[in-house]
Amino acid sequence: MQNSDTNRASLIVGLQWGDEGKGKIVDHLAQEVDFVCRFAGGHNAGHTIVTEGKKYALHLVPSGILNPNAVNIVGNGVVLSPKDFIKELEQFDNIEGRVYISDKAHLLLPYHALIDQAREKLKGDKAIGTTGKGIGPAYGDKITRVGHRVGELLDPEKLTQDIMNYFNIYRPIFDAMGVETPNDRDLLADLIEYKEKLGLYITDTTLMVWDALDNNKNVLLEGAQGTMLDIDHGTYPYVTSSTTISAGACSGLGISPHTIGEVIGIAKAYCTRVGNGPFPSEDLGKDGEYLREKGSEFGTTTGRPRRCGWFDAVAMKHAVRLNGVSNIALMKLDVLDGLDSIKVCVAYEIDGKEIDYVPYTLDGVKPVYKEFKGWAKSEGAREFSKLPKEAQDYILELEKMCGAKIGIISTSPDRDDTIIRD
Ligand code: IMP
Repeated sequence: MQNSDTNRASLIVGLQWGDEGKGKIVDHLAQEVDFVCRFAGGHNAGHTIVTEGKKYALHLVPSGILNPNAVNIVGNGVVLSPKDFIKELEQFDNIEGRVYISDKAHLLLPYHALIDQAREKLKGDKAIGTTGKGIGPAYGDKITRVGHRVGELLDPEKLTQDIMNYFNIYRPIFDAMGVETPNDRDLLADLIEYKEKLGLYITDTTLMVWDALDNNKNVLLEGAQGTMLDIDHGTYPYVTSSTTISAGACSGLGISPHTIGEVIGIAKAYCTRVGNGPFPSEDLGKDGEYLREKGSEFGTTTGRPRRCGWFDAVAMKHAVRLNGVSNIALMKLDVLDGLDSIKVCVAYEIDGKEIDYVPYTLDGVKPVYKEFKGWAKSEGAREFSKLPKEAQDYILELEKMCGAKIGIISTSPDRDDTIIRD
């Protein structure tokens, strides 16, 4: 039976196509919590945190790493590249006892990245535009039950044999794709190094999270990517390979839905997408270019320019419902400063009909826009009442359209330039 005294965890989830600015909010909240737990994705995700003049790049390590009192958990729903994780950890000192990796997380090894890149090349103009990090092949191996788990790193000899057996079975496929597989000596050397450097952190993290909740610790669940990239509910096949929505926290950490409390959804005041696939409110003109330049919309992981467009209230309503969002954090409002007019996609037109929900596919869907008057400057505002009237109207209207409160508004990259509404 569920212990009714169990504390509830707060959850952070992206509501668009990733890159919503989760980093700023998670970083902010992570300063006050005891545990930060990442539940999905891999090193395809990324954000940069600048603190005390030093810049840190985070891809796999949860954001609580910059809070000396927080324990950081990489859950079983993550695909972990040991090589990249080790490199990322090198940025930090005194992390013993503050980072744990689930023994059930799946390993992402260099051959997964090679397969990812080879598949993308073979697909030509049908390519997904992945980050090329090996995410799809690693989750593919997990689901087809030929993957290897982090716990297996503790016996590198056996893991080497098992991986070599896998290569022996699948070598014709690797050969056909032109993907080189490692020899057993090199593989063993790498796996021994991973064990030496990561062995200390590998454990049953589900038990740790249960224990934290039972002891009323403050637990923050950190999602990666965004709702529209979810494997089931996103714009398939132009999605990532994990459950990015709030439900993924349950399977990706081993917790029950009853233990999730507040769900904070992160959205930008406009919209971006990296990679291919439908994006109804994309602006291919000068306004899109303005948003890209002003918002520095270039990928943290790949450096690719992001596609930019207007806030999509239809997709947002879908995301709010899917995730059970209780509070929206609206990011980068200041990027809209200086525009004469701002559009919001309020419906989709498909086969001459208007709809207000996300259909089976967004291919060929046309946006129906409502226009709002622009404003000169919201940058740096720290109170709602200090925002220009037009910006206030914009936010209040978005709130109505999305069906959730916009409780947090970010008006610059600075941690303090944040409006918290009651
Ligand atoms: P993958 O996750 O590398 O397989 O890429 C699949 C799709 O998700 C591509 O369109 C990527 O651009 C996108 N994607 C993956 N991770 C992120 C992210 O952190 N932010 C934004 N888009 C992402």
